[in-house]
Order: sequence, then C-alpha cells, then structure tokens
Amino acid sequence: MIRDASRALCEQFGIQLDFRHTEDLDKVSQWLARESQEFDGVIVNPVGYSRATTVPIENYRAAIQTIAHLNKPVIEVHINNIFHHGAESTQPLREDGGDMGFICGFGLNSYLAAIRAIGLRLQVHHRDHNRRINKVDKVFILNGPNLNLLGRREPEIYGRLTLEDLARRCAEVGVQRGLDVEFRQTNHEGELVDWIQEAIDVAKGIIVNAAAYTHTSVAIHDALRANPRPKIELHISNPHLREAFRQFSYVSPVVDGIVAGLGTSGYALSLQLMADLIDS
Ligand code: DQA
Repeated sequence: MIRDASRALCEQFGIQLDFRHTEDLDKVSQWLARESQEFDGVIVNPVGYSRATTVPIENYRAAIQTIAHLNKPVIEVHINNIFHHGAESTQPLREDGGDMGFICGFGLNSYLAAIRAIGLRLQVHHRDHNRRINKVDKVFILNGPNLNLLGRREPEIYGRLTLEDLARRCAEVGVQRGLDVEFRQTNHEGELVDWIQEAIDVAKGIIVNAAAYTHTSVAIHDALRANPRPKIELHISNPHLREAFRQFSYVSPVVDGIVAGLGTSGYALSLQLMADLIDS
C-alpha cells in the first residue's frame, strides 16, 4: 500500500523510487553507506532505531550524516506521531548534521509528503492535488514569536522568505485545496492561546509554529489539547538537531502530526497534509 502509493507519486514527479524494507537494523546503514553516491535523496522510517542503543545506531547515524553532508535531502518519517507514545526525541538523527527533515503522524501521507518535499528540493515538477471546488474549509496557520522577522532572522537556518511570502504561498495552496487560510503571527503567548481557542468554533484545523513557546508553554499545550480539530505542529528547522533546549516540545504530544526541518516549504506541505486530514 505505502509502496504503491509512493511509486505512483514518484512517477508524477519523475522520481525513480527504490523502496526497501528490512528488519535488520544494520542493513539500512549498509545500504546508505555503500550506495550514498547513487541516489539523490533518502526517506527513512527508522522503526526500531529509536529504541536501539548499541552499535547499529552509531552506524546508522554516521551513514545518515554522510548523506546529509553530501547535501542530499534526508527525511525521517513515521506513520504515527511517535510523541504520543512517550518517545523522547528522534534519537538517531539528533546530532548535528546537514539538512534533515522530520514528518510524523500522517499515516501513509507521511511518506507522500516526504516525497513531495524531496520533489520540491530536486525542483522536479508535478501535477498538483485535485481541487475541491464546492467546499471551503477555514484553516488557521498560527505563528509564534520572532517569526515576524523571517527573511532577516538567521537566514542560514530560517531561509530568506518573509512571513508575507509564506502567507501568500499558503493562500495559493488554500485556493487549490478549497481552504480559506487565516495566517497570523504574534509575539505573545496569551494571544496564541486565544487564537487556538477561537479556532475551536471557526476553523476545521490548525497548523501551529509556536516557535520558542513550543519548548516552554504548558498553556499552549492545554489550549491545543482542548481543541478537538486536526492539528499540525510545524517548524522550519528541525529542533531535534539543534540545541538541547529545543529537543522537548509541549506541542508534539497534542497534535496529529509534525512537519519539521523542511525549510519554509514546510508551510505549503503542512497545508496539503491538513487538507487531507480534514478530508479523511
Ligand atoms: C522554530 C524552531 C524553534 O525552536 C525556534 O524557537 C523558532 C522557530 C522553527 O520554525 O524552526 O523560533 O519553531
């Protein structure tokens, strides 16, 4: 099922898919290490590695980092939201590396979103999702502190697009997917809480980049928990690969899925994932 759907999407992108599965933890590292020159990107679901503690993790981490340092996209995917089950973090990829994305909690769509992200990185073009013409659902995209500085805040981490650029891009995707996107930013924790509460009655779903409050705010955790709609946690960078204080999220356990480390393209991808969550 995942293999077939992945293959179909890759065909749309003109990406050649090599889909593999093994129960042998070290085999993945061997594939990655030996064949790193031969592919343009990797999507990996490291089931089991999150719990492994011995040599395989080291080999795996080394192999992944080699690929990331070759500047090829690497995206870790999980079918479930691993933070619902008390996972501490994405242990295997946690150390400093190149550019690594993280998507979890969307079932099969975790894989499809990763393929889309790689397609965007490789700049291959594809036919987009079907339009939903007869239906318009409101979705909130809520941004937390310092994201108003996007474009000039640490561009090596957060990129060069401004928040206005992202709002515009999200509005375009919204039109394609029948979503009326309400895009907001605030530097104030309480205002985010107010908006998450407001969304209970007016929005079909919430995408939230709570920025630094992700790592500190019980109030945002509680507000999200009180909102029964589909929820996505979004980050431009992958906090799991950064300072220790970013590796805990109060948001992760109370959302359906997480998109991180895909740069600013994560906004449009999250919106596509939200459209699918609302439709499902
Ligand atoms: C961020 C990551 C957070 O750790 C940080 O505090 C931010 C932005 C991101 O989008 O990568 O402000 O949420």
